[in-house]
Amino acid sequence: MCGIVGYVGSGAPGGRPQGVVMSGLARLEYRGYDSAGIAVVTEDTERVAMSKKAGKLVNLEKELAERPLAPGTAAIGHTRWATHGAPTDANAHPHLAAGGRIAIIHNGIIENFAALRAELLDEGVEFLSETDTEVAGHLLAREVDRGLSLADAMRAITRRLEGAFTLLAVDAREPRSVVGARRNSPLVIGLGEGENFLGSDVVAFIEHTRDALELHQDEVVEITPDGVTITDIRGLVVEREPYHVDWDASAAQKGGFATFMEKEIHDQPTAVADTLRGRIDEHGRLQLDGGMIHETILNSIDKIIVVACGTAAYAGLVGRYAIEHWCRIPVEVELAHEFRYRDPVVSVRTLVVAISQSGETMDTIMAVRHAQQQGAPVIAIVNSQGSTIAREADAVLYTRAGPEIAVASTKAFLAQITAVYLLGIYLAELRGNKFPDEIESLLDQLDAIPAKIQRVLDTSEPIRELARTMANERTVLFLGRHVGCPVALEGALKLKELAYIHAEGFAAGELKHGPIALVEEGQPVFIVLPSPRGRESLHSKVISNVQEVRARGARTFVIAEEGDKEAENYAEQVFYVPSAPVLMTPLLSVVPLQLFALELAAAKGYDVDQPRNLAKSVTVE
Ligand code: G6P
Repeated sequence: MCGIVGYVGSGAPGGRPQGVVMSGLARLEYRGYDSAGIAVVTEDTERVAMSKKAGKLVNLEKELAERPLAPGTAAIGHTRWATHGAPTDANAHPHLAAGGRIAIIHNGIIENFAALRAELLDEGVEFLSETDTEVAGHLLAREVDRGLSLADAMRAITRRLEGAFTLLAVDAREPRSVVGARRNSPLVIGLGEGENFLGSDVVAFIEHTRDALELHQDEVVEITPDGVTITDIRGLVVEREPYHVDWDASAAQKGGFATFMEKEIHDQPTAVADTLRGRIDEHGRLQLDGGMIHETILNSIDKIIVVACGTAAYAGLVGRYAIEHWCRIPVEVELAHEFRYRDPVVSVRTLVVAISQSGETMDTIMAVRHAQQQGAPVIAIVNSQGSTIAREADAVLYTRAGPEIAVASTKAFLAQITAVYLLGIYLAELRGNKFPDEIESLLDQLDAIPAKIQRVLDTSEPIRELARTMANERTVLFLGRHVGCPVALEGALKLKELAYIHAEGFAAGELKHGPIALVEEGQPVFIVLPSPRGRESLHSKVISNVQEVRARGARTFVIAEEGDKEAENYAEQVFYVPSAPVLMTPLLSVVPLQLFALELAAAKGYDVDQPRNLAKSVTVE
């Protein structure tokens, strides 16, 4: 949601600021947006140059080709996901203030904007948009008019703003400076030589530098060509160590695939292998990536609550089966936005596990804070280094999926399941639920998974072929039992997100309690079938469910374990995945469903990387 880029360099005024910012915006397109704009600080000390357009970045590029901006020394750019005001040219960012001297961009929602707007209207300020952002611009202008530097003015206004925001601003009279501030929204700093960068995430500047600095809650940053100054809201300078990003620009490119989505589905063997790599020390202890929760606390917990949204929540649902089975601790999985509003029972003996690819999902951030206020220890399972959830949690276990650019999550999902499993294995070891040889065998089972995912990918043509024939379907149902249930939910979610087809996932056992009424002649139903080698009753119960829908005219498509010939008796088509222990099967059985959604969406001509209405990282509640 909203992409933000800032740049300042030491060279003579030229095209680099615009170039860097536009390529940064292109890299941030995945976050989801509906308008875009840029402001450049030129040699004109009275007005910054600005251009903005509703719609995709290509509209802005066209506008810039027709009406080029003057050469500059610094620039800020923005892709906007509309909240206050429709996605029009006027509401697009940047917004100008102080007669065009100042330009400001914003991600988030300023909750007290109505009161501030009324105050400014009383003072005779004229508004050109319906956005909450413009309020911040005029407040900034007021402070700058009083003689404050841009950085001091930014600190002054952030004290008055409520809600969530990342703000970046430039002032025509300070041509070698970009100022930013953040509260509850993301902003990272990129360290160059003779130039510096700001971005919603490191993807924005990864082609220029892999050295980055975090900006924490309620801090203000000023970047100049030669330096970065971070202060807290009172103006006290904060020292911070840089970190090195452990992937490079090529990881954020399509690598020969037609779409990021397809590339990321093919990255999955590596995402799982990297998440497993070097995690367990010689004593069988899990290596966390940051922070720690004392073993005595982990030994005393009597409940785990997983908080997450979307696909990450389904990873939590999968994890529940494993952790409860291995550790005998009750696990609840709660959608983060529902969690804190239902007065949950959370105590110091509740371990809260927050799962998030971006680490910036506002609903999940708020759930983490709520849990911490109740005294609960929080472990974050997060993909983005240095993100808010990673920083605020008491301990972090990074999923090493690399950058996930496609809006709909795929490789992060598999990496999240892997990380939750590692956590479960660790707790089982720590709490004495498993003997060392059992732990070793579980780790071996996980180690075998990447090669099996590769086999699923290598044999995926039949499901792709099927997808291409189904572009006209109106509803598709997905059924699963036990760990197959969250896989069915995820299969349905992928299809909704990518192909805009109505899809529902159900627990197969729930079918007869209602959903079966939906089944009519020709209704496609996907079923995730458990292994016949596992608990026999589970396999035969799902087979019964397949028969129930088939008897009512459904077309049945079954995901089954290699060698399960019986499945063919009940299915129009069977898609086989390699055999694995039951708890490991979601890491395999979801892959054909991801590919199905991808191929079907592509057959319908949709943009699979940026589906309509969706944002990669939902930074508002
Ligand atoms: C958005 C994305 C989903 C994602 C969810 C949670 O809705 O479109 O793909 O699963 O947010 O995101 P997170 O970054 O917290 O995993």
